[in-house]
Amino acid sequence: MARDLIETGFSTRAIHAGYDPADEHGALTPPVHLTSTFAFDSAEAGGEMFAGTRPGHFYSRISNPTTDLLERRVASLEGAEAGVATASGMGAITAVMWSFLRAGDEVVTDQTLYGCTFAFMRDGLSRFGITVTQVDMTDMDALAAVVSDKTRIIYFETPANPNMRLVDIAGAAKVARACGAKLVVDNTYATPLLTRPIELGADIVVHSATKYLGGHGDLVGGIAVGGVEDMARVRLTGVKDMTGAVMSPFTAFLVMRGLKTLALRMRQHCTSAASVATWLESHPAVTRVFYPGLKSFDQHALAQRQMALPGGMMAFELAGGHEAGVAMMNRLTLIRRAVSLGDAETLIQHPASMTHSTYSAEERAAAGIGEGLVRLSVGLEDVADILADLATALSPHAALSPVPEARKVNVAAP
Ligand SMILES: Cc1ncc(COP(=O)(O)O)c(C=O)c1O
Repeated sequence: MARDLIETGFSTRAIHAGYDPADEHGALTPPVHLTSTFAFDSAEAGGEMFAGTRPGHFYSRISNPTTDLLERRVASLEGAEAGVATASGMGAITAVMWSFLRAGDEVVTDQTLYGCTFAFMRDGLSRFGITVTQVDMTDMDALAAVVSDKTRIIYFETPANPNMRLVDIAGAAKVARACGAKLVVDNTYATPLLTRPIELGADIVVHSATKYLGGHGDLVGGIAVGGVEDMARVRLTGVKDMTGAVMSPFTAFLVMRGLKTLALRMRQHCTSAASVATWLESHPAVTRVFYPGLKSFDQHALAQRQMALPGGMMAFELAGGHEAGVAMMNRLTLIRRAVSLGDAETLIQHPASMTHSTYSAEERAAAGIGEGLVRLSVGLEDVADILADLATALSPHAALSPVPEARKVNVAAP
């Protein structure tokens, strides 16, 4: 048996947790169990598995050894007891909601959410008799004032997509405990390397594994982690019977490959993002940069308390507004105009017309998502090249690029 890894470091667990090669013919890399069903030793054994009195896998919509390993690995990184892997981040979010809510219940969310999460809350849950109340969760008193004995779930992202608003997880956990609600946190932007919501009092953490966990832009997946009982409910109610949106074993294999370098990648994303944010902030065409690592960020103190590093995501506004943003994006030659985030490639997009077009203009205004806001996912290319591309796109007529020194450093590097 492999030694207990609970006390080992983050990257050690990201690489080894839950797997002993001796169990799989010495294979260093865990095999991918591409099977939909599992043969029972006997009819009685099958019956007992269905009854939940005997452990084991019986059908891959319920569990599979490869996805099971991924679930245990992410749970270990998040400090959770168990996890459930899903077909997408939306699959994880919706499975959690369907597992714990019924008509008459209330969900309280932050005002800023990823566009499809927002649409699910506004248009999906509300059709089934669930009230969704939005509140500015940067203000804990406002949150405490809106919850009631009908509140079953308090839900937010931190940092929030796309404007980087942070929510004080420990503060929200106190409110959730006081009203008997579950606290569900979308930790996609931060990853467990930077923020571990369960250690701060959250009940459930959800991820779009499509993003940093996978890390290579080659899969769509999601995962929820939390307590054993909550995850059994998500698996057997939300996923098995309601969404059916299970992760494929091959996707689980890809996410596990990504996890092996999560800490390395995240540290580089953060280092490069800090350089880009600092540079953007001093550029005359840029009016505002939203990045938790900047002193000018209005929740900088909370970021320092709650995030080990400020992350690889940012948003910024240009003096020329929406039109200037579109023109700048169209001049980029290295940075890709694409939604999604957390990939090796630097990605840029315009939330109001893309990821957050599910909001009405009024809803975006209420959520603090400016019409000219540009979202940037800083990738793993040489930061000098990212800066040079931004510099040319922001100042197309400048005689000299504002970052010639950075270029020189890049050329000299091996
Ligand atoms: C913060 C956040 N949560 C959830 C999702 C949904 O994830 P997926 O696209 O994997 O369904 C996204 C997607 O962009 C996201 O940014």
